[in-house]
Amino acid sequence: MTLLDVQDLSVTFDTPRGPLHAASGVSFSVARDETVAIVGESGCGKSVTVSAITGMLDAANARISGAVLHDGADVLTATAREQRGRLGRAIGMIFQNPMTSLNPVLSIGYQLTEPLKLHTALSRRERRAWAIDLLRQVGLSDPEKRLGQYPHELSGGMRQRVTIAIALACDPELIIADEPTTALDVTVQAQILDLLRALRRERGSSMVMITHDLGVVAALADRVVVMYAGHVVETAPVAALFAVPAHPYTAALMRAVPDPTDPRERDDAPLHHVPGQVPDLARLPQGCPFQPRCDRAVAACVQTMPPAMEISPGQCAACHNPCTEARA
Ligand SMILES: Nc1ncnc2c1ncn2[C@@H]1O[C@H](COP(=O)(O)OP(=O)(O)O)[C@@H](O)[C@H]1O
Ligand SMILES: [Mg+2]
Repeated sequence: MTLLDVQDLSVTFDTPRGPLHAASGVSFSVARDETVAIVGESGCGKSVTVSAITGMLDAANARISGAVLHDGADVLTATAREQRGRLGRAIGMIFQNPMTSLNPVLSIGYQLTEPLKLHTALSRRERRAWAIDLLRQVGLSDPEKRLGQYPHELSGGMRQRVTIAIALACDPELIIADEPTTALDVTVQAQILDLLRALRRERGSSMVMITHDLGVVAALADRVVVMYAGHVVETAPVAALFAVPAHPYTAALMRAVPDPTDPRERDDAPLHHVPGQVPDLARLPQGCPFQPRCDRAVAACVQTMPPAMEISPGQCAACHNPCTEARA
């Protein structure tokens, strides 16, 4: 059953340099109990897309069109109050940098119990008990003591555990995590991924996970949405995507995976090996935005953006000349 249905979502920012197309006709859905990963290089519109989905895109210069159906109701036409109600209750958000998503002057206990005060009928004592339980669930020792501590008293990994506890506080049906491990060091990244995987297994909530790390995708996702220059270029079940990436951009991302046996590669190396650069979203080329970097481009690619076409069951690519061969 579909929990979230994003239909033809476009977000355009009016900038001094002209309209910047951060998301262009983005469509994908998330089923109940499903984890969907959104991947793509930096600047491809991943964060803007989830900001629009959560109703957090309040930039005065943003123009949004399309529909985002959450439980059948369109989020984009909801009032600010309804959107705030959704966020924190039905949706839990986890951000890249726990230092910026936590408030430095408020105690962990306050930040954990505040959403419970807003969205539940729990008493003060019940809120405290639940907060302690949540901290235990995310693997923090001494939960009672943590309630009285402030973010700066915790390590980066512990802080991210706290933000995950806050996201889980009201038992949301959907968790959206925007690069939750990017700001952490490698061993801590692995611990946080393990935690997210365990929570997913135990709670069965749906998850949208933004990442530029295909290792994270392989570890967590059921289905993958590949974004390039504001467009969804491919969606596929995770196994199909890794076996036969259909869009040349997906294939290029896979070739760019750092080789862990090469000592020159940093373990946390981002996808920086795809030759060329993401185009300026205010100066998109005609046709397919990937065409200037694409080794499979044909004449049509310079003319028109290809529509999404089904390549195999559940796998769709927006490409005039998709790859059909298994990855070498
Ligand atoms: N408020 C804004 N005003 C203008 N441009 C923005 C704004 N927010 C994001 N952008 C632009 O939208 C594009 C997509 O950004 P983003 O969604 O953050 O990319 P990603 O998360 O994939 O790295 C970028 O070019 C970014 O500069
Ligand atoms: Mg981002």
